[in-house]
Amino acid sequence: MTGWEIVTWLHLLAMAFFVGGQMVLVAAVVPVMRGEENREQMRAMARKFGIGSAVALVVLILTGSAMAGHFELWSDWKLHLKLGLVVLTIALIAWHTRRPQQHWLEGVVFLLSLAIVWLGVSLAH
Ligand code: HEM
Repeated sequence: MTGWEIVTWLHLLAMAFFVGGQMVLVAAVVPVMRGEENREQMRAMARKFGIGSAVALVVLILTGSAMAGHFELWSDWKLHLKLGLVVLTIALIAWHTRRPQQHWLEGVVFLLSLAIVWLGVSLAH
């Protein structure tokens, strides 16, 4: 394994946590917890996932910036669009932490994440 394969591996692992975690929440956690009187467990899970997502986003930004420099992609419009969507996603997550009852924000963050993955795949070597 070369150094750049390790950087890509870290980028993909962080992506798997960030996007896969949202899928698990939608497919399993939310349906199972729906109707629960005690919302505290749901809130605790959301908080833990929020911390993990913040770490994953830092890893994505560090490894993504390193790859953009190495593969000379800083002038690629797909990377510009991807970064715009990443900034928008982070802003919506920040908004969602202040207004957790706005559930539509979760759906928008999820759809934006899928678009970011698509752009990542089309940038990849
Ligand atoms: C939510 C955040 C992000 C997600 C979900 C994401 C996802 C992905 C995915 C799935 C790939 C394809 C990797 C492959 O198939 O080898 C990729 C590649 C890439 N990403 Fe990201 N990414 C994110 C953030 C970033 C950021 C912040 C940057 C830059 C600052 C970045 C720069 C890149 C570059 C340059 C590549 C192409 C690497 C290559 O040429 O092989 N990504 N990303």
